[in-house]
Amino acid sequence: MRAALEVLARQRAEVPALQLAGGAHPGLHPMAVVQPDRGQRLSLQAPDWDGQQTFAEVHVLATPNRDETWAYLALARRAGGRVFLCAENRLGADGWRKKLKPLESHSQNHCRLMELDPATLPSQGDPLELRPPFPEADFVSCPGLFSWDRFDPGSQLLLDFLPVTLAGRGADLGCGPGLLARQLLQRGCRHLDLVDVDQRAVAAALKNCRDDERCHGLWLDLTQESPPPGYDWVTLNPPFHGSGYEDRTLGLALLARAAGALRKGGMLWMVANEHLPYQEAIAPLHLQLLEVRQQRGYKLFQCRKNA
Ligand SMILES: C[S@@+](CC[C@H](N)C(=O)[O-])C[C@H]1O[C@@H](n2cnc3c(N)ncnc32)[C@H](O)[C@@H]1O
Repeated sequence: MRAALEVLARQRAEVPALQLAGGAHPGLHPMAVVQPDRGQRLSLQAPDWDGQQTFAEVHVLATPNRDETWAYLALARRAGGRVFLCAENRLGADGWRKKLKPLESHSQNHCRLMELDPATLPSQGDPLELRPPFPEADFVSCPGLFSWDRFDPGSQLLLDFLPVTLAGRGADLGCGPGLLARQLLQRGCRHLDLVDVDQRAVAAALKNCRDDERCHGLWLDLTQESPPPGYDWVTLNPPFHGSGYEDRTLGLALLARAAGALRKGGMLWMVANEHLPYQEAIAPLHLQLLEVRQQRGYKLFQCRKNA
């Protein structure tokens, strides 16, 4: 349970509100929500905000990305009413307090709940909007997505590790904005699934793959949902942060999902920071480790699903 939700539930539970970037809590009953993370979204009963309805209160949960939180604050301003930001200290609560000079501020449970003056909030911004991160960029993305404004060095190493031909049906599990996926398309596959927990990542990946008809976007939380089975190959650069904390179980869950989704004899190519404990997890998943390469702080793995 996120500490910020607990604080909101203690302080503002009785008020029906629009909730932005939040999640489920038994004491909170939002009237509408904006939440592109599928795992969080599935836990919430309320409908998506239609972008028009106004509310007496808006509750914003700070995210690990400040620009993303700022964009949520712009939405909050547009939704009218009293605006509350709840930020965990580790996500820079004090920085937000200094920047926004709240009308009221309450500190509890390593969080700060702040009532904000709507006049101090941005008038422009939308956390769901995809755009080129800089003028010359040939891709779209948005703050909050993995490596949102550049190609990640780990993904580059993975790309260099891959064979020149990737035939058949493949998937990039946890595709982010799709900068790896669009390179994968150059290697000859006939079908590529772009899978991510963040709805914006799936949409960006499809756009960045130029809506290539071989691409299929799947908005899935791979900790709870499976992609279709039988892939000839999968690429995986597993996440190791959940809600801003290092979370090794997340990467292990995606590795298990990748193993389960491969056909017998199918191939997995994976990159991970070298300190993460994935190598020991490979054999119990009925994967045969064919190659490990250690490079610039990363480990690259090539594995085959046992026949
Ligand atoms: C390290 S990024 C890899 C992006 C891309 N494959 C690349 O190599 O450039 C990991 C991705 O996994 C996604 N992710 C995190 N948790 C997930 C989950 N439970 N289900 C599906 N995707 C998840 C993140 O949103 C992120 O885009």
